[in-house]
Amino acid sequence: MKQIDVCLTPDLLHLHQVENTIVVVADVFRATSCMVTAFAHGVNTIVPVATIDECRDWQERGYLAAAERNARRVDGFELDNSPFTYMNEQIRGANVAMTTTNGTLAITRSRQAVKVLVGSFLNLEAIVRCLKTERYDVMVLCAGWKGRVNLEDTLFAGALVERLKDSYAMAEDSAIMAWRLYEQGKENLPAYLANSSHIKRLQRLGIQKDITYCLQHDLYDVVPVLRGNALVAMEF
Ligand code: MLT
Repeated sequence: MKQIDVCLTPDLLHLHQVENTIVVVADVFRATSCMVTAFAHGVNTIVPVATIDECRDWQERGYLAAAERNARRVDGFELDNSPFTYMNEQIRGANVAMTTTNGTLAITRSRQAVKVLVGSFLNLEAIVRCLKTERYDVMVLCAGWKGRVNLEDTLFAGALVERLKDSYAMAEDSAIMAWRLYEQGKENLPAYLANSSHIKRLQRLGIQKDITYCLQHDLYDVVPVLRGNALVAMEF
């Protein structure tokens, strides 16, 4: 039977198997929810980069550029990291370069994987459908916060484990733990996450509507996948 593993933060990635594995990167608040929304609204490609300097290089080559640090847009860049920014006509057909505090870093660290997919609650069922057709083991890489574990990405990992548990064995305790947390919290995720670190951080910045939005399940039938250095929408 195929296995599903959960890496709770990129700082633990060296302990997990990335080669011969499909990695699903999750940064529920907000990078991967934002990317999924952007593809659902017609963006052409997103180049995820780890640093602000790299993002500026792409901007100078004519890309729209999104840069976020500590949940705020970085000066000098057109776009931020809110899914609502990507719900407009300007985005349709655009090529975007993006750097975020944790999400894009997690994607760039997963490059040795067989495939890198971008996951969020918004495209959970699309990810499930895609993985069911694959023959490789899966690892969910939770982006966390600056090397620390966070609750929302772990809950996403648990949701994926729950939906895949008939076709994938749980590799070890991190997958069991994520699944049990999701089981506890799934009836009311906003309440379960109420005192979590990034929710408090976003609320201090007045970003409540992104929180509610990013916790919706199965809004979009789109799976961003890394091809070379760019994310594109997977063809089904
Ligand atoms: C990140 O990549 O760390 C996040 O998307 C931060 C945010 O909420 O803007």
